[in-house]
Amino acid sequence: MKPGSQRRPVLRLAALAGLILAGACRPQALPAPLQPGIGDPYFPSSGSVGLDVLHVELDLRPDFAARTIDGSARLSIEATQRLERFSLDLAGLAVEYLTIDGRPVALEREGSELWIAPSAPIAAGTTFDVEIAYSGAPGQETPEAAFRFSQGWQFFDGGAYVASEPDGASRWFPANDHPSDKATYTLRLSVPPPYVAAANGRLLEVVQEGQTRTFVWESADPLAAYLVTVVIGDLQVREGLAPGGPPLRSYYPAEADEAVIAQFDGIAQMLGYFETLFGEYPFAAYGTVVVPTELPFALETQTLTLYGRNFDGSPNVIAHELAHEWFGNSVSLQHWRDIWLNEGFATYASYLWYEHLTDREHAQVELHALYRTLRQSDERINLAIGDPGPERLFDEAVYVRGALTLEALRDTVGDSRFFEILRTYAERFRHGNASTQDFIDVAEEVGERDLDRLFHAWLYEVEVPFMPGWGDEPGL
Ligand code: TRP
Ligand code: ZN
Repeated sequence: MKPGSQRRPVLRLAALAGLILAGACRPQALPAPLQPGIGDPYFPSSGSVGLDVLHVELDLRPDFAARTIDGSARLSIEATQRLERFSLDLAGLAVEYLTIDGRPVALEREGSELWIAPSAPIAAGTTFDVEIAYSGAPGQETPEAAFRFSQGWQFFDGGAYVASEPDGASRWFPANDHPSDKATYTLRLSVPPPYVAAANGRLLEVVQEGQTRTFVWESADPLAAYLVTVVIGDLQVREGLAPGGPPLRSYYPAEADEAVIAQFDGIAQMLGYFETLFGEYPFAAYGTVVVPTELPFALETQTLTLYGRNFDGSPNVIAHELAHEWFGNSVSLQHWRDIWLNEGFATYASYLWYEHLTDREHAQVELHALYRTLRQSDERINLAIGDPGPERLFDEAVYVRGALTLEALRDTVGDSRFFEILRTYAERFRHGNASTQDFIDVAEEVGERDLDRLFHAWLYEVEVPFMPGWGDEPGL
């Protein structure tokens, strides 16, 4: 129960490179290249210029023996500028055909970019459908390597799961792989018995055809590509209701005993409490999935948090992942450098839950202890979390110092303004994107004061600010 018991091992940086140049097909000279990515300096090739993906339909048939996937993606896209050529992110899978509004078009593969040249330029504001049939073996990583820098679709003995933060979505479907372009999704997952397929949103239907069952999942609320998940295994489902909140549905390994399932019993209550702090739960459902394999992480995949079979049930991790539904999933990053808006907020929320179970003083004792540790740590641990760099995106400092930044804000503006700031921010950017400046603007507006110095010191300077009363007065 003590937040201090939350272990977040030091980052092991998996190779970001290693993308396979897939069978390039050059039917004709294409118009001059554009930028490959949406312009995020941390992931320069992620995302696409000039596209707003509105809806994505994925139809997938995994082959568990061959460890391949085979299927199609239909993306409904609005051109935000005139498009002579555009790119989607797709790494390492073979494209069988590609059409725009039903007509075959030229394509070219270049690293993780899938360049597409429509037969005639698409005017700004036009909505069009891209359909892509694709297949192959999605890149497989050890769970250790997938920790913190995930690699999309992963098979294991007994099923498959998807974990893609920050840039692994393109390893299992053609995506505008950046959180600044969210879309709604329909997933059709066709699997043989005894497999059950869980995914984000709501299960619309299960269609039986011979031996195959197709699980049709729909997310009517938009989500970032990295938050799309699929978990397939021999799973059992448990359904419930959060009082006054969304329907709950959670998936566990078929053989999981009641003690494992009971670890998540507190979620309905936790969700209700977070609604009082952050505002109404932003999505149509919530639940967890315990993947029937060991994972060294949990991931806040939208409406369906991912845990491994080895998860120890720690309530502060459950609280952390649940809080991401508001902070990270509903309000998403505009740039990856703003990662503290996800991890600092979720970490702080786990202390808010602890405070609820105990009292403010107990939570403060923990937070101040964290603060003292951070003050004593050097730059191998500590860092300017407002711009941590792509390699240190998920460093422990982003979590800890991010949480302490919120504690410092609360200390400065007082409880009632502080929670009003969180609610205003969650409400104003609901189902959208925000940057650190957006949060500072809300804090200054609701807090009714200039907070530039506070945020500058906490986010953009390496040295940890001195906080009177936090227990490390100089000379003590
Ligand atoms: N966002 C996750 C958390 O804080 C951590 C994480 C980052 C992660 N990248 C990941 C987990 C990739 C799994 C895979 O809970
Ligand atoms: Zn997190």
